[in-house]
Amino acid sequence: METIKILLTEEEVNKKIKELGEQINKDYAGKSVHLICVLKGASFFTCELAKRIELPVSLDFMSVSSYGDATESSGVVKIVKDLDEPLEGKEVIIVEDIIDTGRTLSYLMEILRKRNPNSLTVCTLLDKPERRLVDVDVRYTGFNIPDEFVVGYGIDYAQKYRNLPYIGIVEL
Ligand code: IMP
Ligand code: MG
Repeated sequence: METIKILLTEEEVNKKIKELGEQINKDYAGKSVHLICVLKGASFFTCELAKRIELPVSLDFMSVSSYGDATESSGVVKIVKDLDEPLEGKEVIIVEDIIDTGRTLSYLMEILRKRNPNSLTVCTLLDKPERRLVDVDVRYTGFNIPDEFVVGYGIDYAQKYRNLPYIGIVEL
C-alpha cells in the first residue's frame, strides 16, 4: 500500500479556490461564465469554484482520454463524452485539475476554439511547470507544485483517493 503525504491542506485549497472565484468575479464583471469541467479529475474543483463565483454560471461536462500509454499523454485526445451545449458566443472557462505536459489541454483548446466561444480561458487547480512540453496559455492557476505524483480533491491514482479533501503526494 502506498502512503499519502499532505502537500496542500484542505484549508489552503479552499482559501485558494475562494481567491480564484474572486478574481473571476472581477475579470468577468457584468457577464455570465460557462464553466467546462474536464471529468473526472476537475469535478470537485469545479463545484467548489462555481460556489465562489457570484456571476450567472452555467456548467457543462466533458470527458476526454489521451491515446498512448497511461503515464505519458500523447496529446492526441479522444472525446469520450462531449459537451451538451454549444459554446458559440459564450465566455468559456475550461476548469482543469492539473496541467502536466500541457498536451491534453492544448489539444482540447484547439477543438473548443473551433466552436466559436466569445472567449476561452483556463482555470487549473494545480500546475507542474517543470513538466511542460507544450506551451498553453493558463489564465488562472491555483498552485504551482513540484514534479511529484499527487492525488486528492478529485485527482486519482488508479481511480483511488479522489475523495481526499486535501492534495497529497503518493509515496510508493
Ligand atoms: P498532460 O496532457 O500531460 O498535461 O496531462 C494532464 C493529465 O495528466 C491530468 O489531467 C491528469 O489526468 C494527469 N496527471 C498529471 N499529473 C498527475 C498527478 O500528479 N496525479 C494524477 N494525475 C496526473
Ligand atoms: Mg485532467
